[in-house]
Amino acid sequence: RDELLFSYKGILYPVTFCSPEVFKAMESLEARSDDMILAGYPKSGTNWLGQILSDLLVIFEKKTQNKESSVNDEELEEFPYLEIGDTGKYERMNKLPSRRLIFTHLLPENLPRSIFKNKAKILLLLRNPKDVATSFYHFTNRMSPLPSYETWDDFFVAFMTKKMPWGSYFEYLSKWNKYANDENVMTITYEELKENPVLGVKNIAAFFGISLTEKELQSVVERSSFQSMKKNSQKTHGAFGDVLFRKGGVSDWKNLFSEDQNEKMDKAFEEHVGGTKLGAKLKYEVYCK
Ligand code: A3P
Repeated sequence: RDELLFSYKGILYPVTFCSPEVFKAMESLEARSDDMILAGYPKSGTNWLGQILSDLLVIFEKKTQNKESSVNDEELEEFPYLEIGDTGKYERMNKLPSRRLIFTHLLPENLPRSIFKNKAKILLLLRNPKDVATSFYHFTNRMSPLPSYETWDDFFVAFMTKKMPWGSYFEYLSKWNKYANDENVMTITYEELKENPVLGVKNIAAFFGISLTEKELQSVVERSSFQSMKKNSQKTHGAFGDVLFRKGGVSDWKNLFSEDQNEKMDKAFEEHVGGTKLGAKLKYEVYCK
């Protein structure tokens, strides 16, 4: 299990996806104020929000005809996950025309400094810890580059003791909490988007300064529904699609958590993020009890 992960600045990452050399090269990224950055702990719904943001970007570009005609489409392609790639990725990204879409699971302190310095806009995605742990457990057991666990109980111990790739859920929340009032950071929860996708998409578009007609709004909402994304997943994510679009709902944790695990999670939540802005945003009393 251990050889699948390596530690960088005290956080574990999968060797298949990340490397210390890439982390060092990342510092050369020149962020821009019109970059659209999506930050979220793994299994919070990154692919869902990614779909929404890329549709919004297409709409924006159509309206502003922002694409440089001299750049061909191949040159526009760069895998959107910031920390996954090769050491040349950031120099190539620096040459891409605006606007760029960037996804990341990193802690704020491990992001290139230019993101904050140049006031890039960050959409911070949160999901309740019980569903994140549940989703992570099923995912890690079906993805060969990630460690697998014989039992849910084994996984739970690892999740609670910071042995996850990309680090601890609670540390993620408490570190990002320092940015919760930043005007360039907007937070959204998986649960609120699930309850009211129309409002969620509207707010996200407004945050990134993208105007939408009613028809465009409906189309973004429809194309990002769990059903549509699952149906298209072979095309968009290949074999990986089946693993990724699992249940797409709230409260599946109730099928896994024991009484004792519930108590441990409740205690950890209170201890690490109780009384914080992001803690409140998650509505723990509603979604985790
Ligand atoms: P479940 O495992 O609970 O089903 P990430 O993209 O960050 O890896 O997160 C994956 C989780 O988001 C999975 O949760 C997945 O089913 C869910 N998801 C993906 N697309 C979704 C959508 N369009 N609507 C709701 N949930 C979605």
